Amino acid sequence: MPNASVNPPIWTESLLNWFDQNKREMPWRGTKNAYFRWVSEIMLQQTRVDTVIDYYNRFMECYPGINDLAAAQEDDVLKLWEGLGYYSRARNLLKAARVIVDRHGGSFPRTEKEALSLPGIGPYSAAAVLSMSYDMPLPSVDGNVLRVYCRLKALEENVMSPATVKKVRDALSTEIPLNRPGDFNESLMELGAVICAPTNPNCSQCPVKSFCLAHREGLVDNLPVRIKKDKITRHHYLVYYLMNSEQNALLIRKNPSSGLLGGLWAFPMIEMSTVDPISEENAAERIRENWGITLIEPSHKGLLKHIFTHKRWSMDIFSAVTHTQAPEGYQWIPLSKISELAFPEVYQKVIRLVVSDAVQ
Ligand code: ADE
Repeated sequence: MPNASVNPPIWTESLLNWFDQNKREMPWRGTKNAYFRWVSEIMLQQTRVDTVIDYYNRFMECYPGINDLAAAQEDDVLKLWEGLGYYSRARNLLKAARVIVDRHGGSFPRTEKEALSLPGIGPYSAAAVLSMSYDMPLPSVDGNVLRVYCRLKALEENVMSPATVKKVRDALSTEIPLNRPGDFNESLMELGAVICAPTNPNCSQCPVKSFCLAHREGLVDNLPVRIKKDKITRHHYLVYYLMNSEQNALLIRKNPSSGLLGGLWAFPMIEMSTVDPISEENAAERIRENWGITLIEPSHKGLLKHIFTHKRWSMDIFSAVTHTQAPEGYQWIPLSKISELAFPEVYQKVIRLVVSDAVQ
């Protein structure tokens, strides 16, 4: 009997365990000093860790404490920043150091509101410094974290939209472990940097793979969605995987050469106006009405999703046998030839679903 009092594993614990074992050495890691954390976070905006490390070390040699920075000349700070780019970061750092010394007794403020009022501090850096230095449970959501979280939860929202950033921040606020908020934020950044990369993520090594809905649904390469203007449309289809058992052939067609998936092979499908569940009998009725095809023993194989740049497809997949003539535009292609044809990923998913179901 499983012990009912044992809590199920949660992804945040797996992530933190992985971080404890695998985190890269960085000079600001392992300290809660808010000055160190703040300077490093500002340098890390728009700049890679490898580049930042030398700049950070030189900066701390020159300005080991916030009072040293507040007393610095702007030209000297800019000289130290030379090569890092985005020089307003350096100018704001100096201005904020002076505010902190003048108005906050030389300590980085301890409330989000005060932190946000400092030059150069936005929600991301405020949350990073306050969580890493003062254990405040504020998620710091940057591009890496958005990517990781959208994949983990298979969120199809456009990450270029502020509403999505807010949604992710709100969701993470409810999941952030209260005993280790800073490590949690850093572990998400680390995962995004070394495993959950924008392209070719190393899912086999991912500590939260078993919790990752994008991985489960085959959506990792499609997420996160980044679209400048919100022009996304949703479509729901019935997709038919139809076999002719006498010819051992599959009913497919080649798409017209222009348009979405142009020139690639496709299954018969019917667009539906709703995503309501549909019975096998109704699915059979639909294709009979549309194409005069009579299905023998239609079977519902499951629901698949696919994300294109501007379109979201959901698809109810039905397989069946039929002996009807191929309707116009369609062909019966022998199964032995199928692997030679170019199917887009969306239909390869359909094939994998039906074939894996058949061999189980
Ligand atoms: N990127 C931004 N902040 C970071 C941090 N603390 N560790 C690693 N990468 C980061």
